[in-house]
Amino acid sequence: GGRPAPGPIADTSAKLVNDEHHPWLSLLPFQIRGPCVCPGLNTLASHGWLPRSGVASPGQIVTAVQEGLNMGWDIAVLITYAAMLVDGNPLTDLLSIGSKTFLTGPAPPKPAIVGGLNTHAVFEGDASMTRGDAFFGDNHSFNETLFNQLVQASNAFGGGKYNISAAAEVRFNRIQQSIATNPEFFFSIPRYATAFAEAVFPIAFFVDGRNTGAAAFELDLTVARGFFQDSRMPRDFHRRDGAFGLDATGEGLSFLINAHFVPPGFNKGIGNYVVDEETLDIFENGFQICALYDFFVNKTVELYPVPKAKGVLRQALAQNLANFFLAVKTASSTCPEQFPYGKV
Ligand code: HEM
Ligand code: MG
Repeated sequence: GGRPAPGPIADTSAKLVNDEHHPWLSLLPFQIRGPCVCPGLNTLASHGWLPRSGVASPGQIVTAVQEGLNMGWDIAVLITYAAMLVDGNPLTDLLSIGSKTFLTGPAPPKPAIVGGLNTHAVFEGDASMTRGDAFFGDNHSFNETLFNQLVQASNAFGGGKYNISAAAEVRFNRIQQSIATNPEFFFSIPRYATAFAEAVFPIAFFVDGRNTGAAAFELDLTVARGFFQDSRMPRDFHRRDGAFGLDATGEGLSFLINAHFVPPGFNKGIGNYVVDEETLDIFENGFQICALYDFFVNKTVELYPVPKAKGVLRQALAQNLANFFLAVKTASSTCPEQFPYGKV
């Protein structure tokens, strides 16, 4: 069942993370980290900061993203438990960072999905930078055409690097592409928030920690390809200097949203993007975190109907929701906590 979230790491200085204990190793047949929606976690698994199988507990993930890439504790807890609630197995406390697998153990009955991070719509969403939309059949493999678009935008707007200006263009272009081609394009909560955050992450976490000044936020395109395509850190890679948490992510995210504003919404047929009025409302009143929290609480309740959740399952869900809320309340002190499965 669920366990309390691990705490923040003590030392957040830059340090060698592609070290002798964490070499990149290619995939074995049963390891499912290969085709995965998240280049960050996939890279950590390829280097053994996470189990190389690609199956881990949320606690292991929270610690690995801090140790391996210096992701801030608050954002690590927020996205890990959000993902765990909809994609993980609460009974065994295991989550697949890729596709559904027996390695996460005996699962609770349907409607629980326990499908891993690649599952569409509960967390994974459309207009990813280097992965296609689920509508076109593959939401998780590295896509060369899309990566080339990232390269082009970086050349045109980032002086040959992926920086925040390039990120703004990539993010906007992918949204426009999905509007123009995907009849089922969905771009509201939760995807609206994660899409912008994920465009910031490569700048925050894939740049060598020995870089200083502006160079600390400029990602070399060969290094980018290594992470996105091969889940591989460059030789001698040092994690960033100091944790990059929720506040910094929020700043980057706001920059990207404002650079080319697109309201939250969805397609009603190709090219017909309709604003999600309900979400826009929350958004204009300064939402983000609280709306995101509500989404995941409601999604959980849908997957694990409250009357049916008993015993270990109920305890685990209550614990994982409580862990998730730890991060929510650091960002939004007015967001009310919810206890559909009772208190832990
Ligand atoms: C994408 C989960 C940490 C970088 C994703 C997606 C999921 C996910 C579900 C797919 C969303 C989509 O594009 O449709 C998680 C979880 C994490 C985590 C649960 C736990 C802390 C990280 C870290 C990085 C990272 C540490 C470091 C850079 C990215 C990037 C994408 C992504 C860049 C977008 C890929 C693209 O658009 O092509 N992540 N992630 N993630 N993740 Fe993670
Ligand atoms: Mg996606």
